[in-house]
Amino acid sequence: MRRLFDNINEWKIIQDKIEFDENRLAESIMSLGNGYMGMRGNYEETYTNDSHRGSYIGGIWYPDKTRVGWWKNGYPNYFGKVPNSVNYIGIDVYINGEILDLAKAKVIDFYRELDMKNGVLTRKFVADVNGKKIEASVTRFLSVKTKELGVIKYEVKALNFDGEITFTPYLDSDVKNEDSNYEEAFWVNVSTESSEKYGNVVARTKDNPFNTEVFTICANMSIKTNKEPKENTYMNKEYYSENKIVLDIKKDETVSIEKYVAITTTRDHNEAHLIEKSEEILNDQTIKGYETVLNEHMNAWNKRWESADIKIEGDTLAQQGIRYNLFQLFSTYYGEDARLNIGPKGFTGEKYGGATYWDTEAYCLPVYLGVAPKEVSRNLLVYRHNQLDKAIENAKKLGLNGALYPMVTFNGEECHNEWEITFEEIHRNGSIVYAIYNYTNYTGDFEYIKEKGIDVIVEVARFWASRVHLNKRRNLYMIHGVTGPNEYDNNVNNNWYTNYLAKWCLEYAVNNIKWLEKENIQSVNRNNVDKKELENWLKISSKMYLPYDEELDIIVQHDDFLDKELIKVKDLPKGNLPLNQNWSWDKILRSCFIKQADVLQGMYYFGNKFSKEEKKRNFDFYEPYTVHESSLSPSIYSIIACEIDNLEKAYELYSRTARLDLDNYNNDTEDGLHITSMSGAWLSIVQGFAGMQTFEQSLKFAPKLPQNWDGYSFNINYRDNLLKVEVNKEDVKISNMSNKSINVSIYGEEYKLEDKIVIPIEVNKNLCNA
Ligand code: BGC
Repeated sequence: MRRLFDNINEWKIIQDKIEFDENRLAESIMSLGNGYMGMRGNYEETYTNDSHRGSYIGGIWYPDKTRVGWWKNGYPNYFGKVPNSVNYIGIDVYINGEILDLAKAKVIDFYRELDMKNGVLTRKFVADVNGKKIEASVTRFLSVKTKELGVIKYEVKALNFDGEITFTPYLDSDVKNEDSNYEEAFWVNVSTESSEKYGNVVARTKDNPFNTEVFTICANMSIKTNKEPKENTYMNKEYYSENKIVLDIKKDETVSIEKYVAITTTRDHNEAHLIEKSEEILNDQTIKGYETVLNEHMNAWNKRWESADIKIEGDTLAQQGIRYNLFQLFSTYYGEDARLNIGPKGFTGEKYGGATYWDTEAYCLPVYLGVAPKEVSRNLLVYRHNQLDKAIENAKKLGLNGALYPMVTFNGEECHNEWEITFEEIHRNGSIVYAIYNYTNYTGDFEYIKEKGIDVIVEVARFWASRVHLNKRRNLYMIHGVTGPNEYDNNVNNNWYTNYLAKWCLEYAVNNIKWLEKENIQSVNRNNVDKKELENWLKISSKMYLPYDEELDIIVQHDDFLDKELIKVKDLPKGNLPLNQNWSWDKILRSCFIKQADVLQGMYYFGNKFSKEEKKRNFDFYEPYTVHESSLSPSIYSIIACEIDNLEKAYELYSRTARLDLDNYNNDTEDGLHITSMSGAWLSIVQGFAGMQTFEQSLKFAPKLPQNWDGYSFNINYRDNLLKVEVNKEDVKISNMSNKSINVSIYGEEYKLEDKIVIPIEVNKNLCNA
């Protein structure tokens, strides 16, 4: 753990000194995004020390040629990645002709703040370049109102001289991915143009042998200054376009430029119209003016917070953590575009290639269900429905029936090359179906199953039916050769979580087919499921093998787990953690250490099927072996810890999930933020501390309060009812802000909620201290 910024503020991330040693970490933390595009917190001006310049556009990806040691049949052909794209924030600054390089200048004062309430990144610093002192103030935002627009205002005040300031705003699409497999560039230049106060670059992703879509992007800039330039020249060459603006400055005077950039792509427009379209945006926005454009953007953020904010009283670290998580999650995805999804690093880095993982369904969907309009969650389901044909092809490639959704994808094709992940982590298929259950159960929109969901449910059931085998000796169905969510154990037999999920998917498919038959005989069987197939699914699900240990009275993670050498994490000598940075892969795989929730993931998904005692026994057994080296892990453990009244552990794990990046718990945030696990803090508060459960079409709460919090509150959107939940040391208040009543269970008692209910908080005397 390493907290870089320890000036803690509830709404802001504050950096009060320039960071040289951990600049990449600072860049990750200060990332900005608006769902359409985003970037790491790089500086506008020159910085010649270590830095990872990164700017990414949602849905633009490139199939990089794969690298594997020894090719095997069925391997994915390419490794998909979001290409690092045009650097459009660049503004070089010269003071009397000398470049301002923050790595070389004397930086006397430095302050940077990410204002999460308003979605604005600002910087202020004093720099001394050969005796000439300036004070710079820089503001940047990516408009949430006008998605294709980014704006920067750069102001310079001369503190001790008269002279000139030169601003060189530029666009540069000669950008490479750090993780390019063969150090190749993914962009080719199409055209560049420049003129006084304007410039654009157009670049296209290289043709590729895999026949995936080629994308063209256009970045177009328009510059405004606060006074007439002394000189204004421009230049463009391959990949690059710049303006050069020289402004006279007197001591104590401030000069400034505003750089508006519109980014248009062939995802939304015809290639021939990219420049024209971006010009339209620039014209509209520059006419509106900086203040209006900024206000529109801030208002849009404020509106999001009105429904989504979680307030924590008495714990500023926890408060900052949850807001940071929601801020970065919404910066990556707010559901406006069903073609997009949520990459594990969002727009903040290259690891995981920006592709879609099971993370979306398992971790992010519940948050969007709770805080955003239902269409946002529906779009996430539609994304997978649109890729069903490819999932069917994917199963076929492996010699299996039905649909196997990829572990890593952009267009529905598997595009990652680690065998144990792509071929073995088939549990992800269950999460795609679980998401349909979760969505329909939460929203009440069962029409979705009729319209689209049933296609996915049926094809996934077919997959499981072909992936199991009958063990004749025991007369039970088994699933061998898988990797469960715990990636620190590969090629295991009968991973309980996978088997349980497969069993559930088969039953869920049968129940839905039966329901559809009752509801609407006409449309039910577009997937041609016959009686025999249904019977087979029922037979498999009723005879699925689920490893269990009678003596310990626990679920067994997989067949061999209990035969391992069982050492608890607390007994590991110092310096071993994180294992993935200190141990060989071989040692990790043989060990008992669990990367992330596995058995517990199943108990979380099917929380209504297991008693509190069962959860406690399994939690107490597995948690001591869990290293939580996947950022997805702590939230699930925190939720179960709350349920079993281990509030001390729940709080510890909440902090780990909410401040994972701010405190760099896993020592890898310099690669980018853990965007998909940003949902974990919300889950830990709403489903953990507040005990919200929505199984079986009912809404339940069982709020608890960590001891060092004075209270917390949040809003929840449930079946078109907007509810506000407030918890403090005395009581629990739930207000219904819509005009129809709703049934709610609180601590097991049923209430008809018209307006509001206030009941005393139930304090379990056995609670541990937080
Ligand atoms: C986790 C996976 C996850 C992936 C992307 C891995 O470290 O083990 O469960 O899907 O990261 O977040």
